[in-house]
Amino acid sequence: MTTIHPPEPFRIKVMEPIRLVPREEREAKLKEAGYNLFSLKAEDIFIDLLTDSGTGAMSQEQWAAIMRGDESYAGARSYSRLKSAVEDIFGFKYFIPTHQGRAAENILSACLVKPEQYIPSNMHFDTTDANIRARGGRPVNLVIDEASDPANPHPFKGNMDIAKLKAFIAEYGREQIPFGMITVTNNAGGGQPVSMENLKAVSAVYGEAGIPFVIDAARYAENCYFIQQREPGYKNKSVKEIAREMFALADGMTMSAKKDAIVNIGGLLCVNDEKLFQNIKNELILREGFPTYGGLAGRDLDAMAVGLYEGLDESYLSYRIAQTAYLAQRLNDAGIPTIQPTGGHAVYVVANQLLPNIPNYEFPAQSLGVELYREGGIRGVEIGSVMFAHPDPETNQWSYPALELLRLTIPRRVYTQSHFDYVADTLVKIKSRAKEMKGFRLTYAPELLRHFTARFEPL
Ligand code: F0G
Repeated sequence: MTTIHPPEPFRIKVMEPIRLVPREEREAKLKEAGYNLFSLKAEDIFIDLLTDSGTGAMSQEQWAAIMRGDESYAGARSYSRLKSAVEDIFGFKYFIPTHQGRAAENILSACLVKPEQYIPSNMHFDTTDANIRARGGRPVNLVIDEASDPANPHPFKGNMDIAKLKAFIAEYGREQIPFGMITVTNNAGGGQPVSMENLKAVSAVYGEAGIPFVIDAARYAENCYFIQQREPGYKNKSVKEIAREMFALADGMTMSAKKDAIVNIGGLLCVNDEKLFQNIKNELILREGFPTYGGLAGRDLDAMAVGLYEGLDESYLSYRIAQTAYLAQRLNDAGIPTIQPTGGHAVYVVANQLLPNIPNYEFPAQSLGVELYREGGIRGVEIGSVMFAHPDPETNQWSYPALELLRLTIPRRVYTQSHFDYVADTLVKIKSRAKEMKGFRLTYAPELLRHFTARFEPL
């Protein structure tokens, strides 16, 4: 099958040089970094697919907006411009800017989570998971079973399992569940979208139980684009109309604006409940800043106000989703398994299938990530046992995630077809020696979010 790389709906005005350091140096850099790709220096990386978070290229309009930033401490014009964009797109009654997504998660958790309470979602992202745990809460993942089968072509593999959600609420009750979430798209499960039908069902189940419903909206625009493309009844609706319909189902949202608002820093927390909003504002003032800037500079708010609309632009979204599909198709054509169907922001290589000789406790996806840097100076990110394995709070037994993935995350408006051809060619080379590759042993790991700072030793 041939997939065509879409022509970019932009041209390049400012360039940033990148350099491939020689192979021997790459080997030394890996050793120095304790084989943790987060510890490498950006200058030593040729193509950086670590994340799509804050790594996008801002547009000329965003850079122009930065110059209009109003740095007044309170009531800045920048805040008013962001407020009008947030109200127009999301439609919640109240909002605060935050410095990024996890700050919104922290504030929400501080206001609502008590020890031993449960927060269900399709799949929590790692920072959401950790912010809930940090307050003594218990994040619960209730995604449909299809999500754990990488080959299953279900068009909305981010969907929540409604039967499981109902059973969970029946078992624990409203008192033990201060709010419920859903992540769009489901980053931890392959960047997979959630259908509007599923969102409606989730909203109804939470609503009937009196549980507030909060959307993790980091990649809501990509999710809405998939709804437009894949879900019956949506092909004639604009992505923005679909977004309005989605957020009307919820009581609040957290958002890392570093994704679909195409800014380098920023986040949002929106709610409809006035009393909760008062508490949120107090928490924000304590930890982040005054409610009209929320830990950001005025210019950041302006870049976000413009970026929110650019993230909804349909010519951009169709290019972006096709670019991701192009990379996946090139890998699949060479027999390299990736999560099907291809998600929005990243290609997820199924590392345990590519490296079947490495057991999950020896971190196959970590091993593949290290090899990709060694071979081509490319940085991906492990989304597997380094990130998600944890001791069960009841039994203390280690529990391992169903999928061992290397995520090749695509920054917005940054790389071109030749970069992706190089990435694909490099992985094809690695595949030819997959059988000889070995795993890793942890030599240091903190308790929470260990993937950021862990150190390893090759086996
Ligand atoms: N929710 C989702 C679904 C995310 O993917 C992220 C971040 C966050 C929340 C937290 O937002 O980074 O602004 O504090 N994901 C990045 C990633 C880090 O690489 O996937 P943040």
